[in-house]
Amino acid sequence: MTKPKFIQVLLFVIFVSVYSLAPISYAKEEGKLYVIGTGPAGPDLIAPRGLAVLEKADIFLCPPYIQKNFPQYINPARVAFNPWEGIHDEEAIKLRKTDYAKWVQRVEKRKKKVFDFVMDAISREKTVAMLDCGDPCVYGPSLYWLLKEFDHKYLEVIPGISAFNAASAALKKPMAGEGINFVMLTAPHSMFGRTFEKGDDLLKDLSKYNVTMVFYMAISSMDRLVEKFSRYYPSDLPMAIVYYAGYSDKQMVLKSSLGKILDDLKKTDEKWMGLLIIGKAVK
Ligand SMILES: C[S@@+](CC[C@H](N)C(=O)[O-])C[C@H]1O[C@@H](n2cnc3c(N)ncnc32)[C@H](O)[C@@H]1O
Repeated sequence: MTKPKFIQVLLFVIFVSVYSLAPISYAKEEGKLYVIGTGPAGPDLIAPRGLAVLEKADIFLCPPYIQKNFPQYINPARVAFNPWEGIHDEEAIKLRKTDYAKWVQRVEKRKKKVFDFVMDAISREKTVAMLDCGDPCVYGPSLYWLLKEFDHKYLEVIPGISAFNAASAALKKPMAGEGINFVMLTAPHSMFGRTFEKGDDLLKDLSKYNVTMVFYMAISSMDRLVEKFSRYYPSDLPMAIVYYAGYSDKQMVLKSSLGKILDDLKKTDEKWMGLLIIGKAVK
C-alpha cells in the first residue's frame, strides 16, 4: 500500500472507531440500583468505585447513621427514605426476638415498598444508591432481606471493606495462615439459632481445629455465647472485641479470654458496633 493510501485507511479506521464507540460512552445510563458497601466507617474506607456512584446517584436509600458518615457525598434532598426503618433498628431487633412472625410481616411490607419505589425510579432512568455498611454480602440487610428476589439485570453490587477487615487491621495480626486452618465468618443466630438450642455438634467439631472465628452482632448475647463455648473450650481461649473498627476517633480493642470476657464487657455499654474475634490469632 502506498503511504497516502495507508494514511487514508488509517484515518477511516479512526473515524469509524470514534463514531461507533461514541454512543456507548456518551449514552445516558439506564436506570439502575446500586447496592454500595460503604465500608466500616466513613469516606476514607469506601472504594473509589462506590464514591463515584455516590457522586452520580439521583436517589439515595440509606439509614441516617450512614448518611451522617458521608455528609459531603450524600445530598439530604436526594435521600428518599431509610429502607430498613422498622426492620433493622433497635426496636425491630427486639421484636425479631419476641415476635419473629410479626417482624417477618414488616420485612415483607418493606420489601414491597422498596421494590415498587426502585422499579419506578429505574423506569424513569434514575440511578438509585442503596447503602449498606461494611460489605453488602456479609450480613448486609439490603441483599439479605430486601432484595432477595430483585432482578439482577437492574442491580450492581459494589463491594466494601467489612468490619472483619477493619477489625483485623486494628488487631495488627494475620487472621489466616500461620497454622490457622480457616477463618469463619458468622453470627450467633447463624450458628446457634435464635434460641441458642442448636450448634453444639458444630462447635464441638470446630474445637478440634485451629480456627479464627468471627462473630458479627454478638455482643448483646455474649453471656449465652460464653455458656456454649465453655462446654468445648478452655477458659484461656483468646477472644477480642474490636469496637468501631476503622473509626479514627472511636476505635477500641478489648483483648480478653473465654473465662474473663463477661467481666471485661462490664467496662463498656456498647452492644452493637463491635466485632467478636475468637482464636489463637487474637492472642
Ligand atoms: C448487620 S451487620 C453488618 C455487617 C457489615 N455488612 C460488614 O460487612 O461489616 C452489623 C454488625 O457488624 C459489625 N460491625 C459493623 N461495623 C462495625 C465496625 N465499624 N466495627 C465493629 N463492628 C462492626 C457489628 O458486629 C455489628 O453488630
